[in-house]
Amino acid sequence: MFYLRAMSNRQTILSGIQPTGKLHFGRYFGAIENWKRLQEEYDCLYMVVNYHAMTMPFTAKKLAENSWELCFNLLACGIQVENLFIQSLVPEHTELNWILNCFTSYGQLTRMTQFKDKGAQNEDFISAGLLTYPVLQAADILIYRAGVVPVGKDQEQHLELTRDIAQRFNNFAGKEFFPIPEALYTQIPKVMSTADPNRKMSASLGDKHNIDVFADESRIRKQIRSAVTDTGEETNTMSPGVANLFSLLSASGQQEAHASLLADYEAGNLRYADLKESVADGLVAIASGVQEKLRELKQDRRAVKDQIKQSSWEIRKRAQETVKEVKAICGLVK
Ligand code: TRP
Repeated sequence: MFYLRAMSNRQTILSGIQPTGKLHFGRYFGAIENWKRLQEEYDCLYMVVNYHAMTMPFTAKKLAENSWELCFNLLACGIQVENLFIQSLVPEHTELNWILNCFTSYGQLTRMTQFKDKGAQNEDFISAGLLTYPVLQAADILIYRAGVVPVGKDQEQHLELTRDIAQRFNNFAGKEFFPIPEALYTQIPKVMSTADPNRKMSASLGDKHNIDVFADESRIRKQIRSAVTDTGEETNTMSPGVANLFSLLSASGQQEAHASLLADYEAGNLRYADLKESVADGLVAIASGVQEKLRELKQDRRAVKDQIKQSSWEIRKRAQETVKEVKAICGLVK
């Protein structure tokens, strides 16, 4: 299985996800579903970015727990184990990170909006890691010479920086050593908070602002039942809350229900209770499948962890190849 993937000449995709927060439907529809689909066509590498998670306040215990938990959750969602790895099991990322630091403009790093935003959240201590975070991300991508990087729009600046770094390194090397990676922006409708449909569903806003894929059925139904629909104002356009429920319905694959409820809406006789029930049915169907899979995986945690270590090891060999070549290009003594 592992040998086959290494020999395939499909284009390489790389993406990373932070081992923080829970896996809510915003992340599920916004990223994971897309990752899952891409596995059919590309050579995919999906990574739990635990080194990146150290740039914000963390504890050792939580970091380790969250990293494994996210791996299990991703597998339960349908990510194939041979495509999944943990960043710290491929320490070459940090070695390339150092080398690429020397091909990165300091000024450009200080202008990254994410650095400014996250720095503002944490004024008493801003680590140098938070500043160089995007260089590690560039190393993540370039170390596999990935051509395609599926990310959200919020990562646009980081991708741009990665391209600049690759270009600068290529100029130094005097050849097209790194392919210039392209971002593949997730086009799934943005999933909004059901409690405040003007804001993106997110873990950091608090529990009522996101629906956990691993929550039990009654909680999911309750959250959808209490979703904000109309704000009371009479308008001719669909309210953000109702639009969000329709997009959740469509994202969860309930196309027939979507079409008929939309017809009701247009005819002016949609009952929100019916819309909510269909949305809840769709989400519960996904949640129960994923949760069933998670239960199976947890029956032999040890074996699953070993598989993830094994795939990380296989993927590491590819990273080692690149770093070897990069060091030769830079004249670093072996
Ligand atoms: N910065 C990304 C995020 O916060 C996570 C990430 C780290 C990543 N390394 C990556 C994404 C490499 C794509 C490619 O979502």
